[in-house]
Amino acid sequence: MKAFNSMTKFGAGLILATLGAFAGTNAQAAGGHGCGTYTQTDGTEVTLECSKAPIDLTNKASLQRGAAMFMNYCVGCHSAQYVRHSRIAQDLDIPPELVEKYLMVTTKSIGDHVTAQINPEVQGEWFGAAPPDLSLETRLRGDDWVYTYLLSFYEDPSRPWGSNNLVLANAAMPHVLYNLQNELGKAEYEKRVGDLVNYMAWMAEPVRHDRKIYGAFVIIFLLILLIPVYLLNKEFWKDVK
Ligand code: HEC
Repeated sequence: MKAFNSMTKFGAGLILATLGAFAGTNAQAAGGHGCGTYTQTDGTEVTLECSKAPIDLTNKASLQRGAAMFMNYCVGCHSAQYVRHSRIAQDLDIPPELVEKYLMVTTKSIGDHVTAQINPEVQGEWFGAAPPDLSLETRLRGDDWVYTYLLSFYEDPSRPWGSNNLVLANAAMPHVLYNLQNELGKAEYEKRVGDLVNYMAWMAEPVRHDRKIYGAFVIIFLLILLIPVYLLNKEFWKDVK
């Protein structure tokens, strides 16, 4: 009976730990961030649901398109100081020559980190808010927040740039993808922004995909380990009455 009790406790503990591990992964994947509220012209307050970002770190083509977008549209103002160009070449399967030719917009050496073209501090004085470093942005705000933010610019003549944002009210950032949005149309534009956020998610945690695989292996290993541990436990308690 005693053996049975301790075994049940052990089993329950392991199951709880497993569930906890999965819940943790999911909570992180979901980001757990809302996308804020905004007031409509008629005065009603609307809660903005985050749109789901299409994150798939195994999709190299999407990551490559995202990297190109990031380098073309974002590093003018934002840095990504924890990311080296050489790591982009390696992880995203882009030949280093191509990275040097097309993606190294702000530095000379492929070992350099991704810096902003214009010093963010100086920009802070110009725009009223300095563009933050984006290396870890999707971990700070959540993938879905960043995706929704980038899709939520709208025209607002009262703002210095003529644009505003539903997620980050009175954002100091202009709608830098305005032309692209008009050029591509809604569906294709959302896909491209999805690639961009996918790339940003890779940047924030390059090992995220591997981590999930290792996590699954560890849990499978623990479950298999449960069998000999259970048998041992039975053996040890066999003679104790
Ligand atoms: C002209 C300069 C400029 C460019 C180009 C630019 N940004 Fe920004 N961005 C800013 C500024 C300034 C802020 C700060 C906004 C604020 O706090 O009001 C900002 C804020 C942000 C934020 C929100 C940060 C936070 O957590 O509050 C994200 C996300 C972001 N930018 C992503 C991007 C991406 C992705 C691109 C490329 C498509 C881009 N930005 C291009 C100037 C720029």
